[in-house]
Amino acid sequence: MTDQDTLKRRAAEAAYEYVAEGEYLGVGTGSTVNHFIDVLAERQPELAGCVSSSEATTTRLKAAGLDVVDLNTAGDLPLYVDGADESNDHLELIKGGGGALTREKVIASASRRFVCVVDESKRVGLLGRFPLPVEVIPMARSFVARRLVKLGGEPELREGFTSDNGNVILDVHNLEILNPIELEDAINAIPGVVTVGLFARRPADVLLVAGAGGVEKIER
Ligand code: 5RP
Repeated sequence: MTDQDTLKRRAAEAAYEYVAEGEYLGVGTGSTVNHFIDVLAERQPELAGCVSSSEATTTRLKAAGLDVVDLNTAGDLPLYVDGADESNDHLELIKGGGGALTREKVIASASRRFVCVVDESKRVGLLGRFPLPVEVIPMARSFVARRLVKLGGEPELREGFTSDNGNVILDVHNLEILNPIELEDAINAIPGVVTVGLFARRPADVLLVAGAGGVEKIER
C-alpha cells in the first residue's frame, strides 16, 4: 500500500464506527470509498441494504457480498459515507472527480448524516484549486460552457467520459470560490446543468481527515 492508500484505509476504518446494523447505508464513489467497501467486505455487517452512488460502487458492493437496493425502496437514509476532492473548514466540498456527483448529491441530500472520508491533502482554505465538475446534458454542453466562462471559470470537457446518467462533465478551472452556496445556486440555475459538484447547500456533517498523526474528526 502507498502512504496515501494507508491514510485512505485509516479514514475508511474510522467511518465504519458510524455503521449501524439493521439500517440502510449510502455508499459513495472513489478510491477512498473503495477502502470503505473493503472494510465492509471484511466485517460483513448485517445491513438492511446499501444504496449505491454509481455503477462502479454497485459492482464492488455486490462482489463484497453486500445487498444493493434502490434509493426509491430505501427512502431517507440514516448514513451516507463518501469521499471528496476538496473540503474547507465549513465542511463544504468539491466532489465529482470520479464523475458520480449527481447520484452522490441525491444520496447525500437524502441522508440524515453525511460522513466524509478524506486524507489531509484534500483540506483547503478556499475551494476551487481542484477543477469543479459540472454534469451537463450533452446538447447543452457549449451553451453551459459559455455561461461558466461568464461566471469566471475556464470549463474543459472531460474527454471520453460519459456519466452513469448518460451525460458529459465540464471541469471548471481557475475558480476562486469565495461564496460556495451562491456559486452552487448560480451554476445549478443554468439550463442544461444536471448537477454541480459543489456540496455547500448539503455539506458533510462529519469530516474524517486521515493524516500522519491519526484520524482527525471535524463536526459541523
Ligand atoms: C466521485 C467523488 C469522489 O468522492 C472524489 O472524487 C474523491 O475520490 P477519491 O477518494 O478517489 O480521492 O466525488 O465522484
